[in-house]
Amino acid sequence: MLMMRIGMLTSGGDCQALNAAMRGVVKGLVENVDELEIYGFENGYKGLIYEQYRILTAADFSGILTKGGTILGSSRQPFKQMRVPDENGLDKVEAMKNTYRKLKLDCIVILGGNGTQKTANLLREEGLNVIHLPKTIDNDIYGTDVTFGFQSAINIATDAIDCIHTTAASHNRVFIVEVMGHKVGWLTLYAGIAGGADIILLPEIPYDINKVVEAIQKRSNAGKGFTILAVAEGAISKEDAELTKKAYKAKAASRKYPSVSYEIADQIKEICGVEVRVAVPGHTQRGGSPCPYDRVLCTRLGSAAAKAIMDEDYGYMIAMIDGRTKRVPLGEVAGKLKTVDPNGQMIKEAKRIGISFGD
Ligand code: F6P
Repeated sequence: MLMMRIGMLTSGGDCQALNAAMRGVVKGLVENVDELEIYGFENGYKGLIYEQYRILTAADFSGILTKGGTILGSSRQPFKQMRVPDENGLDKVEAMKNTYRKLKLDCIVILGGNGTQKTANLLREEGLNVIHLPKTIDNDIYGTDVTFGFQSAINIATDAIDCIHTTAASHNRVFIVEVMGHKVGWLTLYAGIAGGADIILLPEIPYDINKVVEAIQKRSNAGKGFTILAVAEGAISKEDAELTKKAYKAKAASRKYPSVSYEIADQIKEICGVEVRVAVPGHTQRGGSPCPYDRVLCTRLGSAAAKAIMDEDYGYMIAMIDGRTKRVPLGEVAGKLKTVDPNGQMIKEAKRIGISFGD
């Protein structure tokens, strides 16, 4: 008779397919385990630290495949702060271990991005049984081809670019669509190509504003009245890329613009004397229902996580590699970032068809 007690939490910025992934885990266990107890920690690691949890049943995970957000709630608990006691002097890591032991958990399933993964690895090092599922619209988790949320966010960002395309064409305007992605350009690259952007600016390829302007002028000389730029929120100029991390942070903090796109817009206006508008879809990119691709991805990752749990094989991220789910040791991937290769095939192919990366 197989009996299991599992904990579950979702941490960091949410995304569309968190519920779908948890459903996959629970359904995979319910079908195959004789007795299952599920402890859902509320609002990420906070719930594990402060013993805030709900006892859930299989019914709680029914009907949530298509539901965005997370039924457990989420919060950001920076990895760097995990070893720092809270305002009441509580040792957070010890508190998490205590909660885990008090509830006699067999394992804890942790859904989240890079920071979340680092803490998951820390808990593994501290002796807890952990399984991590790679969530983020940014697609920047090392060791998996894709993260869940990414494809759903591509669809939304692409829709935004599509909508801007028609109005930009009517008004003969230059438009910037700023795309999320934190420090990496995956989302901007995919949505930019899918939306037919003329210029794509990524953190991995620092831009020269003169090259950006050249690309706009080239289009206008060819009789094209409008230009669409897909700009990653983390895009950086060649000049700024030369600065130390500290100097760049200070410069960005004192910038008079709300984000890099507005600065680029002003520079283009000044050099070319054309009208430029900025559209920021922002958090809509993380909202709404997961797309079918993410539903399938999460069902597979969740089911594979259930199998690892039943095998009592812990300490892994469940990844998708070459179309197959795989257990990747957390110790091998935690703390690493997956970035766009500036010399990769996709960039070369995009450049070949005339897309400018401002370099
Ligand atoms: O990591 C997901 C993400 O949406 C990033 O793309 C973005 O930079 C960040 O989270 C926004 O964070 P917050 O929700 O805290 O504003």
